[in-house]
Formats: sequence, C-alpha cells, structure tokens
Amino acid sequence: MSKQFKRTLITSALPYANGPVHIGHLAGVYVPADIYARYLRLKGEEVLFIGGSDEHGVPITIRARKEGVTPQDIVDRYHQLIKKSFEEFGITFDIYSRTTSDIHKKTASDFFRKLYDDGKFIEQESEQYYDEEARQFLADRYITGTCPHCGNENAYGDQCEQCGTSLSPTDLINPKSTLSGSVPVMRPTKHWYLPLDQHEAWLRQWILEDHKEWKANVYGQCKSWLDLGLQPRAVSRDLDWGVPVPVEGAEGKVLYVWFDAPIGYISNTKELLPNDWEKWWKDEDTKLVHFIGKDNIVFHCIVFPAMLKAEGSFILPENVPANEFLNLENDKISTSRNWAV
Ligand code: 2FM
Ligand code: ZN
Repeated sequence: MSKQFKRTLITSALPYANGPVHIGHLAGVYVPADIYARYLRLKGEEVLFIGGSDEHGVPITIRARKEGVTPQDIVDRYHQLIKKSFEEFGITFDIYSRTTSDIHKKTASDFFRKLYDDGKFIEQESEQYYDEEARQFLADRYITGTCPHCGNENAYGDQCEQCGTSLSPTDLINPKSTLSGSVPVMRPTKHWYLPLDQHEAWLRQWILEDHKEWKANVYGQCKSWLDLGLQPRAVSRDLDWGVPVPVEGAEGKVLYVWFDAPIGYISNTKELLPNDWEKWWKDEDTKLVHFIGKDNIVFHCIVFPAMLKAEGSFILPENVPANEFLNLENDKISTSRNWAV
C-alpha cells in the first residue's frame, strides 16, 4: 500500500523574470498544479502551493545590457507582470515571491555554506574565456563565433541556433566577446562542483527502483542520464548578478542560477511561514510534489535532490510531474510566437 502523508507541499517551477508568462507555461505547469492544490483543499487536506519568480542567471543580464538598464530593473518589471498574469488567471498560490528577496539570498547562501563546511563540494580550477577589455569572465552566451558544424558566424558559446548543435565556447571558430567585441583569452578560474557521480548509486535506487510510478517521460529521461553516468556539476559562476558565493576569496563569483532557484521554493515557504516552514520541508509525513516543464527534469529529479541529500535534513520529492510543451496545430508554442498572456 502506498504511504499515507499528513500534508502536501506543491511547488511549481519559478519562471524566469525576463519575459511574460505564456500559455504553454500555464497549460503545462501552473494550471495542473493549481487543479491539484484546489482538489486537495476541497478534500479538506493540509496543502501549501508555492510559486515565485526566478530572478538570476545570464539571460537577465543580457536583456538588461541590451536595454541599457540594470538587471534589477528587468526583474522588477517582469516579476510584477508575471505575478499579475497569475492573479488574473486565478492561480491560487499561497505565496508568490522572488529570488531577489533578502530571505532567499540568505537561505541560498546558508545552504551553500553548509555544504561547503561539510565538505560536500569539490573545488576545481579550469581555464575559461576572459574579456580583457570588459575585465570579466564570459558566460557562454556572451561569446559568439563561427559554428564548426554549419558555418553560422553568429553561433553562441553554448549553442548554434542555426543548426541546433550544443556547443562549448572553445568549439567556436574566431570567438568574440559580445561585451566589447574583443577576442577573449583563456584564464584560470576556481569553481565549486557538486560531485553528482558520488550521488549516483542512491539516485539510481531512489528513482529507478523506488519511483517506477513516475511519468514515463520523467522516468525515461532520468534513466538515460543515470545510464550515461553522472559527472560533477559546477554550482558557481563568474558573474556580477546573483547570490554571492559565501566563501573568502570568491569575489566576483555567484551561485549558479540552477543552484539558487530551487532553494527559492524553500525560501518562499519560509517567507510565508517563518515559524512553521520546517515541518513542510523536513518531516517525512509531508508529500513534496514539483510541477515543472520537461526542460527542468534533470534539475528537479537529480541535481536538487542531490543538494537536499547532501544538506542532510530535507525530504525528497515524492513525485515530479513534468509536462511536454503545448502543441497547437502540431507546432510547439514558444514565447517568440507571441502567445504571452
Ligand atoms: O526554466 C525555467 O523557467 C526556470 N526558471 C525554472 C526554475 S524552477 C526552480 F528551480 F526554480
Ligand atoms: Zn551550426
């Protein structure tokens, strides 16, 4: 018989605050999560439904630079817009907050620091592209060059949008910094890595044996990741927008957005229930369910659970329902096609 829980904690993916929420997000993530929350409330069950905006990461800095405003201006604008769309659509979050809140910055920073103090990270130096004119390391998206596969001269350091190939900045021919237009040079930089390889054994058991009931797309994607073998993942970046890495000598470095964003679920719960949040995150009688889009599967099923396990006092998700994109007349609906609400 399946376990009986006392309460359900529902989270829905925190949308990036760099554009409006569109109908594909609503149909795939927020409406299903809202239906589930309303259903449980109608049954008289104890339930919390957490939402919020994801306000860090490189795309926000790129947008700010293009518009000649600060990243804070961008997230202030889109956080309000997205929040209002959800209200008008009738999504019944118990809280809709944001990852630039003070409580989030402290929660994410403390979380990193605990893992750091407990020796749960690997510290490693690697060579990365640096812009000597702009005097900063370059995120993959800040480097353009020629795609080695199709010859597109405007490929990005992480992907060629003409042929769709995933790239590394060092794959680009004639790399150029989009900040200053100069040719970037290689420089050593130190980062912290979560050794996912050390988590592989329990993740295999937990997902592939104990959660065979997960949706086929979620289970299948996890299985292929696990079968490929997990590698350590960097959880910090050289960037001036985000939660600073709370370690001496880490000036100019912030937590990787995919490290801090899921911690946003915890900080938003804390903001709502400052004295009572722990029972929602640390009591085995809580059923934790993450509603997400399919692009977020690896982060919610592998990376975030590994972070929670490494921290040591948190529960793990019981289910991670991820939906495919909404199709209309056989085409994927994307933000670029103006389906914003
Ligand atoms: O894909 C996205 O839109 C991400 N901002 C989702 C983050 S979910 C969670 F980790 F916050
Ligand atoms: Zn290409």
